[in-house]
Amino acid sequence: MGRLLRLAVMPVVLTAALLVVSAPSAGAQASRHEAEYAACDGTIDSNHTGFSGTGFCNPPNQSGTGVEFTVNAASAGTVALGFKYANGSSTSRPASLSVNGTVVQSNVPFESNAAWSNWTVKSMTVSLRAGANTIRLAADSGDGLANIDYLDVANSGTSLPSSFTWSSSGILVEPKSDATHDIVSVKDASVVYHGGRYHVFVSVVSVNQGYGLAYLSFTDWSQAGSAQLHFLDQTAIGGGYKAAPQVFYFEPEQRWYLTYQIGDNVAYSTTAHIGSPSTWSAPTPFYSDTPQIVLDNMGSGQWLDFWTICDSANCHMYSSDDNGNLYRAQTSVADFPNGFSDPVIAMHDPNHHWLFEGVNVYRLEGTDEYLLMVEAFGDSGRRMFRSWTSQSITGPWTPLADTRSNPFAARSNVTFDGAVWTNDISHGELIRNSIDQTLTVSPCDLRFLYQGKDPDASGPYNLLPWRLGLLTQSDSTC
Ligand code: GCU
Ligand code: CA
Repeated sequence: MGRLLRLAVMPVVLTAALLVVSAPSAGAQASRHEAEYAACDGTIDSNHTGFSGTGFCNPPNQSGTGVEFTVNAASAGTVALGFKYANGSSTSRPASLSVNGTVVQSNVPFESNAAWSNWTVKSMTVSLRAGANTIRLAADSGDGLANIDYLDVANSGTSLPSSFTWSSSGILVEPKSDATHDIVSVKDASVVYHGGRYHVFVSVVSVNQGYGLAYLSFTDWSQAGSAQLHFLDQTAIGGGYKAAPQVFYFEPEQRWYLTYQIGDNVAYSTTAHIGSPSTWSAPTPFYSDTPQIVLDNMGSGQWLDFWTICDSANCHMYSSDDNGNLYRAQTSVADFPNGFSDPVIAMHDPNHHWLFEGVNVYRLEGTDEYLLMVEAFGDSGRRMFRSWTSQSITGPWTPLADTRSNPFAARSNVTFDGAVWTNDISHGELIRNSIDQTLTVSPCDLRFLYQGKDPDASGPYNLLPWRLGLLTQSDSTC
């Protein structure tokens, strides 16, 4: 976040009403249930190749016969099912799916795959209750069921645990002034790892409370503190208010984008060479004006902290307004950077401090799952991050670790390698495992470059002494 001068003093008021606790989503891992351990109405055969485990279930060729699995769920929620089957007959063998004794889908086709040794996975989605569930597949025709090898159960929140602990580095990046830039903080980091180097873009705030952008690059974190700070007002990006950068490589155009707020709008610059700060282009605004929906909803807040992520079809720009609204706008990958729609409100909280700013959205590697993080005010007004997941880049977003008692990242779930140099876990970004516009992170290797500040610091927000540190997840389950 980079706040305009008119918002220089932020109230740090929190009430007991904030202490809302919602249940974390299911965090169970994907699980495989072999048919040989399930209740099979027929025989466990092994006379056709290609099965997993020791065999497959071959129910008799009668309507109503089938196979029943027992599946334990850590908590109630939606899960994806995958039945591996073979149907060597020439016609489909439709089946009904029951969960806990109730038919939830009937006449699901299990199409012919031409040979009994050809196997296919049939996918469907069901809701499970917490604890034991029975999942039964039964034939809808006299031909009986296909041969069933196993059932895979993938929870919608499978890739990440439902709670987190982190260890923090000490301060890695501090402000470095030069003859024409007298700065008090480095903040709002965006980072990619490319060509054997970290490339970090930050907001810098000067003693007169003006915001600009800066860039630094280094080979490993031990070098971050000695890296030169390049002030981007010296480039075509130019002077004046610029803040909260995000960097990514837009693969379709084979060039880098830097997006940032410019006061009442969001703009981008591009370059082919991320390591050469002088090559960034002049700012081009994404919008002609602040969209009406933002003006209508931002109250005394500010439109800020723009975050773009794309899938194969569309690019989505998330943003906040410090007034409890998370916005999302959309354009096609083909049209990007043009054509962004007016934003829609993707999420709202009546307590603006509980859905504040600093949004990040990532795709989790190897899944179709997305992680959303939003900065909020935690205990004693300390900054923290809440998190959600979704099977869709557009949401809806299911709470993951989103409470004060179970935060994504906050003082309460961070330990420090050395001295506790901050109580705030504020605006930053996860270390991605790719550079492109899909913003992919590995759910097994979470690291978060964040901003923190001296716990004793006080005064106007814009003069707070923000520095950068790195969180490393300490309870990874994989
Ligand atoms: C064949 C095949 C079996 C299959 C059966 C059927 O007998 O070998 O594996 O279950 O056809 O039609 O159901
Ligand atoms: Ca059979």
